Parts: sequence; C-alpha cells; structure tokens
Amino acid sequence: MGEMTERKPLIVGNWKMNANHLEAIQMVQKLSYRLEPEDYDRVEVVVAPPFTALRSAQVVIEQDHMRIGLGAQDAHWKESGAFTGEVSAPMLAKLAVQHVIVGHSERRQHFGETDEMVNAKARAVLDAGMSPIICVGETAQQKDAGEADDVVIQQVKAALARIEGRALASSAIAYEPVWAIGTGRNAMPDDAGEMAERIRAQVTDMTDSSVAEGIRILYGGSVSAGNIKDFMAKRHIDGALVGGASLEPDKFAAIVRYRI
Ligand code: PGA
Repeated sequence: MGEMTERKPLIVGNWKMNANHLEAIQMVQKLSYRLEPEDYDRVEVVVAPPFTALRSAQVVIEQDHMRIGLGAQDAHWKESGAFTGEVSAPMLAKLAVQHVIVGHSERRQHFGETDEMVNAKARAVLDAGMSPIICVGETAQQKDAGEADDVVIQQVKAALARIEGRALASSAIAYEPVWAIGTGRNAMPDDAGEMAERIRAQVTDMTDSSVAEGIRILYGGSVSAGNIKDFMAKRHIDGALVGGASLEPDKFAAIVRYRI
C-alpha cells in the first residue's frame, strides 16, 4: 500500500543569513521568472529568507500571484513573552509563512539548540498551523565512529516526541549530514536514500504507516543542479533543503527543474 503513496517533492531554499529585504525581492522575482506553471505542478517550491525579508517576500509573492511558498528559518517555542530577540510561530503564520525550518545543525552547533528545544519548536510551529521542516544529521566524527544511524534516529525520536500522528503528516524531515553542509561534499545518494528509509521506518514505529508514507523526507548538504536528480531518484527522498545554491536564482531554478 505504501508503494502507492504519491508524495509531491518539496524543494526549499534556505537562505541562511543572506539577503536584505531589497535583495530578497529581486531574488524572488528572478526565481519566479525562471519557473513555469508545470514546475509548480511537479514540485512544491519554497524559499526561506531571513526574518527581516519575510514581509517583503510575502508582498511580492502575493501581488504577483506567484506560486512560490514562504518559509522561515526558525521560530521560538513560546507564543509571546520576555524573550528578547526571538520571533514566535504565530508571528510567522501571520506573514503567510507555511514552513518553518527547526533544528538546523547550525542552530544546534552555534546556538546550543537541544533536541528538547527542537521538539518544542516543532510543536509550536504545528500549533500555529504551519509545517515544520525538522533537520537531523550526524557530524563527521559521529559518522567516522559508526554512529550515524543511532544519532539520526535518536534525533528523530526526540524531535517527534508527543506530536500526534495526524499533525505530523504535514511535517517534513530533512536529513542533512553536518559534514555535507556548505562543503561541496554531498552524501552518496545511496547512503542518503538508505538513511531516509530508516527515518521513515522510525516514523512508522512512532505513528503508523499511512502517516509515515505521507511525510516528506528531504536531503540537504551541497545539493546542486548536477546532483539533485541522483537524490530524487531514491524512493525515500522526497525533496531537498538547499543552502548555497538557493542564493542564485538560476541555480535554484535548475534544481527545481531536475528531471530523473
Ligand atoms: P548547503 O546547505 O546546500 O549550502 O550545503 C544546506 C543547508 O544547510 O540546509
């Protein structure tokens, strides 16, 4: 039955700390010029600019009736309160944000995000009516020590704790080996495909197969126009989280327009 499930590919551009709001408008416009209606029929296309550019991106997308979806790169787990510098999930939902990246390895590494925080953020994003893109992935050291599977499965378990199966159906999980991010050294597609399969099996254990078969599992880490099709050819990989290459509309459009 699982074999029959159609998952629409999801390709997300994670702009990280790049682009002011004026640059963001141009990037969204350029991307839109390069995509055709059938591209959006095949693939769900999302860009995740920095917080300061979300409102501008939202306005240009709405005014020009673009089919580009809007994502954010993080959200706090509380709805409001004394958390200087933070942005809440309801604030993002109000900007027509649909997807929120949570637990990116850069946040785990540089900002001390724990699995518990990632879980709280994922739940806050769902409570606000958006879909979390939950990032997991092992470091080079963990990979060399043969711990990659255990680390990733533990991260998935922790991130999904106490989330109801039905809510989870709209979520995505991005497998992003830390050593592959921004290095030009992508994972072997076979390895990434196998990890995606293990992640789906874990989601099945925690929910049921209909939820697990519907959830989208993305690969991230040095995705390019040259390698995207090798990842998308894997049965359990349903999209990509793209960093560097998403900053150039030509390159990002070429990734969206992959053909197997
Ligand atoms: P990269 O980043 O494509 O530049 O490797 C991916 C990510 O961090 O999501």
